[in-house]
Amino acid sequence: MSYINNGRSSQILALKTRITTLQEELDFAGGTTPAMDRCYDNQETITGSCKEHGDFNQLRIWMKFSGRMSEKFSRCPHCVSAELEATKNEMRALQVEGLTEKANIPDRFADCSFENYEAANKSAHRNLEMLKAYAKVWPKMYDAGTSLILSGKPGTGKNHLAVALAKSVIEKHQASVLLTSVMRIIRAVRRTWEKDSERSEEDVISLYTSMDLLIIDEVGIQYGSESEMIILFDIMNTRYERMLPTVLISNLAPGEISQVIGDRLTDRMVEGGGATLVFDWPSYRSTKGAPAV
Ligand SMILES: Nc1ncnc2c1ncn2[C@@H]1O[C@H](COP(=O)(O)OP(=O)(O)OP(=O)(O)O)[C@@H](O)[C@H]1O
Ligand SMILES: [Mg+2]
Ligand SMILES: [Zn+2]
Repeated sequence: MSYINNGRSSQILALKTRITTLQEELDFAGGTTPAMDRCYDNQETITGSCKEHGDFNQLRIWMKFSGRMSEKFSRCPHCVSAELEATKNEMRALQVEGLTEKANIPDRFADCSFENYEAANKSAHRNLEMLKAYAKVWPKMYDAGTSLILSGKPGTGKNHLAVALAKSVIEKHQASVLLTSVMRIIRAVRRTWEKDSERSEEDVISLYTSMDLLIIDEVGIQYGSESEMIILFDIMNTRYERMLPTVLISNLAPGEISQVIGDRLTDRMVEGGGATLVFDWPSYRSTKGAPAV
């Protein structure tokens, strides 16, 4: 598995280098000689011809060195632009692939999107629009560390929309996202306390506190001991201090969430424009006969 990822990382690295080169070529086509070619001390503009795009202003630079002439020509700017765009797309696709793999999206939710969420009522519609808007202006949300709470009844599509949000910020903005739950976090931390654990508690905590967006499900259920819950709060708090957005999902009503995670943390969660989206209608599972979880 990891060798595949390494393959992808080196591919991304190669594409990055290619993008830098193409950008330099594009600058050259626009009249700026790349720094490494400044030794060419003569230049002129001639008319170049591209099979596809016709005539273009071509830059020719040259120098004479011990009786020999060395010269370079700029390429058709349209061709270079197209190559640059295609290379950027290729890199983006690889990044999205890698980020999606790491996001931990459960198979049963893999197809969930904003498009296939049916807003059954006004509140559902409002929540859908809020999350779509959040994804759309992700760079702003990220800068402000805007967090969200999705609170409400079972089967109302909280996970569906959280997955849609995750996929959207990965695809549109190449953000690093992780979907997890209180139980998973506690289990991961607990495993580090075992004698032969390869990872330290700090490793695990730093994974959760470094993702651009962390989505934590099942908030409000007391799974662990007090010390384990403290670690969970520590993760949320560290993210708050680093101004990193977190999305909490809970079956509890907003007031009850405050009781469980504390008013201070709840306030912090919705600071910076954050909001609590309430999902308070009957389960989609029963109304649409969707497979029960
Ligand atoms: N409005 C909707 N439109 C389309 N599918 C929906 C909608 N609401 C829920 N679903 C689907 O119903 C199933 C249950 O939804 P989901 O797991 O997102 O609910 P939930 O609010 O997280 O529930 P719980 O609180 O029990 O975890 C999923 O397969 C989801 O895709
Ligand atoms: Mg759920
Ligand atoms: Zn061309």
